[in-house]
Amino acid sequence: MRPILPLLSLLVALPVLAAPGPRQTQIRPGELWEDANGNHINAHGGGLLLHEGRVWWFGEHKVPGTAGNQAWVGVHCYSSPADDLVNWRDEGIALRVSDDPKSYIAKGCILERPKVVYNAKTGKFVMWFHLELKGQGYAAARYGVAVADRVEGPYTFLRSGRVNPGVWAQNIPAEKRTLADAPAAKRLSSSAFPEGMDKAAIYYRDFAGGQMARDMTIFVDDDGVAYHIYASEDNGTLQIAELDDTYTRHTGRYARLFEGRFMEAPALFKKDGKYWFIGSGCTGWAPNAARSAVADSIWGPWTELGNPARGENAGKTHFSQSTYVLPVPAKPGRFIFCADRWNPKNQIDSRYIWLPIEWEDGKPVLNWKDAWSPADL
Ligand code: GAL
Repeated sequence: MRPILPLLSLLVALPVLAAPGPRQTQIRPGELWEDANGNHINAHGGGLLLHEGRVWWFGEHKVPGTAGNQAWVGVHCYSSPADDLVNWRDEGIALRVSDDPKSYIAKGCILERPKVVYNAKTGKFVMWFHLELKGQGYAAARYGVAVADRVEGPYTFLRSGRVNPGVWAQNIPAEKRTLADAPAAKRLSSSAFPEGMDKAAIYYRDFAGGQMARDMTIFVDDDGVAYHIYASEDNGTLQIAELDDTYTRHTGRYARLFEGRFMEAPALFKKDGKYWFIGSGCTGWAPNAARSAVADSIWGPWTELGNPARGENAGKTHFSQSTYVLPVPAKPGRFIFCADRWNPKNQIDSRYIWLPIEWEDGKPVLNWKDAWSPADL
């Protein structure tokens, strides 16, 4: 009898171990979102990429506790069939932070808001992210770039820096392209300019060394040109910088957007030939009222459309902060707002707030839904 019992229990246990989690049919914003293995999805501040029939979700892998505010693992990747978007398969760690303390992406750095795009010319997948060097808080304000041959990685770190050092933004007028009478910059202690300070002062301060790059997204236009949109100038002003045809470098063509509006968490999408923007205000991990805007040209002028959130918790964007807008595959004109409900004391438990973008008087709006299905869009 003896050998049979363990064998029996193994047989009973096996199907349980191998069984995938139950197929989910609805997205439940704010609730635990399990991947196919039954683990809460760990891809915060994420970005999504449609590639060969699947959508690939890249985000910050968080560890428990306040340590989750730094990067100890890297960028986690998941994928779902393009017509599903509720059930996600764990594809592992796409970009690992380094054990080498001298690396730009040493364990304990801050690596946020990764976004991956595919470059048809080089056949490579290119990941951009916001990088803060280990032990320096948020002072470094740099971008990072990594590349891979396969969508799920492994990604190899390429480079990190500030944006376009020594190059004038195209919307700085010719007569102001001089440091000789640059306005004096004071250190900003809050998300506001001190009385009398010129709103371009931080821009001039950083001109020689390169522009700060914090919260960010990458947007690829219909013509294949890619853009890096990032919170710059001590978060006071967003900037948009064109990428070269390998998507791994800035071309030097860039502009300042929403001067002095302290916007973060930028997300861009295109509909009916117009460019649409959703972002947040600047209150750290705490949610605030989202912002939205529209433009005929990606370079602007951008017209602000106000807070797109509707309903009871609109003032806090349903307790979330934007990270990406996903065009629904095979459903032109349909978009999903993807956002984070941060838990800075235990970031691994931060939740995802995904809501369909609806339209009201020609403006994008975000109504709360307890549960909804992408298949119904
Ligand atoms: C948020 C930003 C997050 C993170 C956080 C740190 O405003 O969107 O990505 O940087 O601040 O406080």
